[in-house]
Amino acid sequence: MRTETLQNKRVIKSKSNSSNIKNSVVEILPHLVKDIKLAKLGRDKIDISEREMPGLMLLRKKYSRTKPLKGFKLTGSLHMTIETAILIETLKDLGADVRWASCNIFSTQDEAAAAIAKTKTPVFAWKGETLKEYWDCTLQALTFNGNEGPNLIVDDGGDATLLIHKGYELENYFNKKKKLPKITATIEEEIVIEKLLRKVHKRNPNHWHNIVPDIIGVSEETTTGVARLQQMVDDASLLFPAFNVNDAATKSKFDNLYGCRESLADGIKRSTEIMLAGKTVVVCGYGDVGKGSAQSMKSYGCKVIVTEIDPICALQAAMEGFEVRKLEDVLERGNIFVTTTGNKDIITLKHMRKMKDQAIVCNIGHFDNEIQVDALNASNAKRDTIKPQLDRYTFKNGKQIFLLAEGRLVNLGCATGHASFVMSTSFSNQVLAQIFLAQNKPATGMYDLPRKLDEEVARIHLQHLDADLTRLSKEQADYIGVNVNGPFKKDEYRY
Ligand code: NAD
Ligand code: ADE
Repeated sequence: MRTETLQNKRVIKSKSNSSNIKNSVVEILPHLVKDIKLAKLGRDKIDISEREMPGLMLLRKKYSRTKPLKGFKLTGSLHMTIETAILIETLKDLGADVRWASCNIFSTQDEAAAAIAKTKTPVFAWKGETLKEYWDCTLQALTFNGNEGPNLIVDDGGDATLLIHKGYELENYFNKKKKLPKITATIEEEIVIEKLLRKVHKRNPNHWHNIVPDIIGVSEETTTGVARLQQMVDDASLLFPAFNVNDAATKSKFDNLYGCRESLADGIKRSTEIMLAGKTVVVCGYGDVGKGSAQSMKSYGCKVIVTEIDPICALQAAMEGFEVRKLEDVLERGNIFVTTTGNKDIITLKHMRKMKDQAIVCNIGHFDNEIQVDALNASNAKRDTIKPQLDRYTFKNGKQIFLLAEGRLVNLGCATGHASFVMSTSFSNQVLAQIFLAQNKPATGMYDLPRKLDEEVARIHLQHLDADLTRLSKEQADYIGVNVNGPFKKDEYRY
């Protein structure tokens, strides 16, 4: 068994208890966390945050007796924060057998992971994983009893889903050609994944085909993960049902917007300690995350410039009073640049070279490819790490820029992500999605949360904010053509 603690970034190995199950694709570990001694701090923070997560606490109360997730093996690949610890304990309360990894190398709160590990829940996550460690952790979370897979998956960004699909594809190739393809990937992360899959294949050449039939479905947390799933639906490669949590109104219109409205500033300030008032901030993208980010910076007294490719979102930004420009035209004006697009190559090396001295560059979108970090690292700019997740680059002409969290989501890399209350709305949707999948075992395809349940999630959280909701009279309900108890809007309504 490996020890529970990662000390000095080294996993300490001891010989006792090592499990040796036939066809096991990984050495079975109880957990891997930075320091189990942080469990008490984690537990104290969990106790405090539970009071701010009324949705999850109510779901526990409602379902902990009937245990709708009993008998289901559940893998989570989602930022291992205090809020996620409360989600995990809710899923366990509902009966699930849970294994967990983070969905980002920098987003784990080590005290949260330690508190979960202390309850004997297998969790594989620490802040500052290498890419190899990250994917090894994902495989650990996906592997039950040495060679079994999950029945249910909670995914954030789609990495757990991706590993399964890529493994399955590799086995298909091998079964057809009787050999494995050469690794042709050039991106470091893709090479890591390909190597890991070959290791699994060597141990069990049918592992992914064995586990896929038992997967009932995945619930996906974020915009980028849903986009990945939609591509798989479109090209008919999706192997199991997927539940779109992101597009519940009580997720994307709250977490992506109000969550980022607070956690973006938290990330920038904790890492740079900069005064925001008076600065010029360029926000790339004006979707839900961009709207929250722009509003946040404006509220601090920043001059905010927005870039957009969608004329509707650009018009929205203009009518909120933001200057709408092309990035190329404002490189020398911005003090801070934030990408929020879920798209790639938004800030290129060429852009960074043209920025004004001391500009701060960061991303709050799901993946780090919004900023050309690899190109920056490969350039002749000198990199100085001021502290973890804060790097200064000096170009040959002496101009300097600061890059936060190596281009990974700044609110989780440089701070602790969204506050608990808004995560309660998101995670209530996750729990409802998991119950839906477990109870209905739907056919492969993409599913949305019914509007009535979305309204229910909002209703629970309204009480916590001491808000009084007006009730429709029967006559008013008939007049606008709805039921007095909802749903109050048609599915197409955009909020
Ligand atoms: P969205 O689709 O609502 O918004 C993205 C916007 O970017 C769109 O309006 C799109 O038109 C615009 N865009 C695309 N390419 C662009 C380009 N080249 N230049 C300028 N604008 C461009 O998505 P969202 O819900 O706002 O999510 C954005 C990203 O943030 C996703 O990756 C999502 O997964 C992630 N996310 C992060 C957090 C967090 O806590 N860090 C929370 C929620 C979502
Ligand atoms: N995404 C954004 N903030 C988060 C948090 N606090 N926990 C988990 N996922 C998050």
